[in-house]
Amino acid sequence: MLVNLRDICSIAEQNNMAVGAFNAPSFEAVRAVIDAAEETGYPVILQHAECHEDMMPLDKIGPAMVDLAERSTAQICVHLDHGENLSYLHRALEYGFTGIMFDGSALPYEDNVYYSARAAEMCSGYNCGLECELGSMGAREGDVLVKEGETPAAGGTGAVYTDPDQAGEFVAATGLDILACSFGTVHGLYRGEPHLSFEVLEQIRERIRIPLVMHGGSGVSDDDYRQAIDAGIRKINYYTYGAKYAGEAACRVVDAARAKDSSAVVYWHDLTGAAYECLVKDFMQVMKVFANGAAPLA
Ligand code: 13P
Repeated sequence: MLVNLRDICSIAEQNNMAVGAFNAPSFEAVRAVIDAAEETGYPVILQHAECHEDMMPLDKIGPAMVDLAERSTAQICVHLDHGENLSYLHRALEYGFTGIMFDGSALPYEDNVYYSARAAEMCSGYNCGLECELGSMGAREGDVLVKEGETPAAGGTGAVYTDPDQAGEFVAATGLDILACSFGTVHGLYRGEPHLSFEVLEQIRERIRIPLVMHGGSGVSDDDYRQAIDAGIRKINYYTYGAKYAGEAACRVVDAARAKDSSAVVYWHDLTGAAYECLVKDFMQVMKVFANGAAPLA
């Protein structure tokens, strides 16, 4: 069933857990997210990111995501990730998305406030919650950002920690429902261990009691996930590492076939099948960690 972003984050709040928010720019990934949610009994956020538009257009995947979520037994929020243009956000609202993110983190603070508040006004006519971002998680998923031995804040990754005092003002001035904040995770592949600042996260949580979002959430240790959830993270965005593991699974199919016969024919459906199986397994495993001890809810 389709669930509003606000409601799915309230479920997470009540259970001191985080909901996994998975980017799904292919049909295999959409299916894997929904199947993992049905299998585990945990709610899930199924996302499409504006930066994946060339890979998978919103007008193709968006209506399919909403339809499949409506027909699923799992609790699913269909969410637009990192929308940077209000017209793109509006299209997602019209398709029936129950969550949208306006990402004005690259804009000057005043412009971020202005456009985030416009996005909140747009949502008010729809059954849809709003996520906005303050601070920055650096470049987009798929990139390699953190160099060995460097922390994101110091490593020239473009990541900027969220200012806890500014977070309080930002929430009051915009009317957003959940806040993406930067405290050490970055999008893309990590070259070293990510170093999370739980102090920054706790300071943000002291000032605002709304659900907080971890972006750059793949490639983080289970202990860091648990500590972040205990400090108020209610939504964890997860893409790069799942996509990497699925790519490796598809490569293993090719390698196994070619090891037996160097001219073996490898079919596309064998690759997508292996990638799908891998994604379901990976999503189920992280969803159980994000549940932080909460029993399955469905
Ligand atoms: P990763 O690149 O760590 O998977 O993060 C994805 C994300 O935050 C999407 O918004």
